[in-house]
Amino acid sequence: NRYDKFKESSLMKNQVSALQGQLAVLQATLAKYQKVAAFPSGRIVGNRAFVTSGYEGNFDDLRQRCLQAGGQLASPRNAAENAAIQQIVILHNKPVFLGINDIQTEGRFKYLNGETIAYSNWQQGEPNNEKGRENCVEIFVNGRWNDRSCGEKRLIVCEF
Ligand code: IPD
Ligand code: CA
Repeated sequence: NRYDKFKESSLMKNQVSALQGQLAVLQATLAKYQKVAAFPSGRIVGNRAFVTSGYEGNFDDLRQRCLQAGGQLASPRNAAENAAIQQIVILHNKPVFLGINDIQTEGRFKYLNGETIAYSNWQQGEPNNEKGRENCVEIFVNGRWNDRSCGEKRLIVCEF
């Protein structure tokens, strides 16, 4: 009846305003952690955060460390993401290994999930698979990419 309908709708209004309050708290908390992720040298692009711990290691070491942390090696899918990673490279003045390689099929560069890359930013003359030994990808201070031996040690940047 009408009284029940009235009770139902006022209950609903209370629930909506409780949710609005919780949402505001969540938004403020999210804004705070975005700042945390960006300090001192992280970068946020859309809903991706690119972060370094300062650790340096070979490709497999870095890959595992990002996975262990609940993320993955930085895998830029467009110019904005590449620029974010480039800024971290600039801040540390150290090239970084990307989550991209052609280990499976020479010349076919893929993300770690096996998907073939759609975006690239190769340095002129790259990838050259020098001495037939370069299956991983480093990004330089200029933002350009070079294929490089996976056994080299590079700065870690994970994406979350
Ligand atoms: C090489 C050069 C080359 C690049 C290779 C690097 P290296 O450095 O920079 O242009 O394509 O990936 O290994 O071995 O001559 O110091
Ligand atoms: Ca190369």
